[in-house]
Amino acid sequence: MTYWVSLAAQGTFDAWRDAARRAISHRIAPEEIDWHGCGGLFDTTPLPERPGVHATRVPQAFMNLAKSVIWHSASERLPLLYRALWRLDRGEGEPLSPADPLGRKLLLMQKSVDRDIHKMHAFVRFREAPVQASRRRFAAWFEPTHNTLEPGSFFFTRRFGDMDWVIATPRLTARFVGGALSFGPGGTKPDLPEDAAESLWATYFSNIFNPARIKLNAMRSEMPKKYWHNLPETRLIPQMLADAEARVQKMHEAGVSTPRLGAAPVSQRYRSAMPQPPKRIDTLEDAAKAAAQCRECRLCEKATQTVWGEGAADAALMMVGEQPGDREDIEGRTFAGPAGLLLRELLADAGMDARKLWLTNAVKHFKFSPRGKRRLHRNPDRGEIAHCRFWLGLELALIKPKLTVALGASAAFALTGDDRSMAERRGKVEPGIHGGPVLITWHPSYILRARDPATATIARRDLARDVANALALSRNVHEECAKSSKEQG
Ligand code: URA
Repeated sequence: MTYWVSLAAQGTFDAWRDAARRAISHRIAPEEIDWHGCGGLFDTTPLPERPGVHATRVPQAFMNLAKSVIWHSASERLPLLYRALWRLDRGEGEPLSPADPLGRKLLLMQKSVDRDIHKMHAFVRFREAPVQASRRRFAAWFEPTHNTLEPGSFFFTRRFGDMDWVIATPRLTARFVGGALSFGPGGTKPDLPEDAAESLWATYFSNIFNPARIKLNAMRSEMPKKYWHNLPETRLIPQMLADAEARVQKMHEAGVSTPRLGAAPVSQRYRSAMPQPPKRIDTLEDAAKAAAQCRECRLCEKATQTVWGEGAADAALMMVGEQPGDREDIEGRTFAGPAGLLLRELLADAGMDARKLWLTNAVKHFKFSPRGKRRLHRNPDRGEIAHCRFWLGLELALIKPKLTVALGASAAFALTGDDRSMAERRGKVEPGIHGGPVLITWHPSYILRARDPATATIARRDLARDVANALALSRNVHEECAKSSKEQG
């Protein structure tokens, strides 16, 4: 008797794990399973649906290995993984060791998959679809060596979280629309020469991005056609299709006079397509939405996204850093990287939960210079800080902190308009240009980047003191204010 298993192109790891667990729980031997079966032959049967009585525990190292190897393109990956699981279960040798032929093979497969995912992250080239939509739209065609689109896509959701995008591969297509990632069937390589003009690619991709098509594909993959006639939204399909064609036709016609994409900077190209920020900004949410559209300086063109502040809307203490770093730019969260870790540690030492403050930056976009695969931080200049002061002022006006802490020279300049050196100002409270007191201190990165341990130790001690002082001051001012308003009222 042979048991057959058939795994879908998407969600393959979960499906494999489920099948392997059931098979091992019935003690079904590796040679009894056809991992690429489809049934129908004599003497074959699907795997039992329910687990058997045999319980097994597998090491985490095996699950980690399986999580990579499953995306390898070789069909033997499935029987090989199950054989390793079988041997682990029976205690037969060390099937995960490079000294074991099976282990060696699996480890090589894992390495190859990991490399492929890496390549995808480095070499996917998005092109922008010239459509008027609230989120910018990008698409890419990519041909991975293995089936790595699914595990490789999550990286792009973080990196390009505020855009819509599609990555099409021959086997699978990943769509990230409105913040939701979904997968559909693969496509065929667009029939365009490698050096096709941007306008040709743009036409192709705006076609791919047609919202009607996206819905249609999603519908086809999510729900079989036989159910369509009972679903109200499917009545719109003929109209959607008609619109889709008309739109593509329009693009072809417009193509001749459309300026080449890339000829103008993003700030000029997309200004007209951007939704206008709310006329009145009364809340932090509105302010964050408006800041996400900011194109006032060039920093928006290379940065992944605007990184807005976070914390308590009624914070008595606001801390202002310089600008988001590499991590923050990808995650869209302020102080998400090493400097943030150190800052939170110092706050915790002083008895303060960072969530009770408002943590933000003088500049809301990451400024960097590319060096190979790395993006090296660059200080914002005075003009960039001045442009971004509008947003900082808005945060101050909406939160009304009792005290603001300037972490480092850029924040000190943004908050006070004074660019004297930090050494003479650190630890002091100065009047802010937006009103309200500003305590000047070191930026946590100053400690992390210090060349010698002595400088780092002293700077850390200074910063810890200033943080504790800021907490005490903000509490005092808070209590003073509460007392005087009670007396007056
Ligand atoms: N450095 C900053 O100034 N701000 C951040 O958000 C992260 C690092």
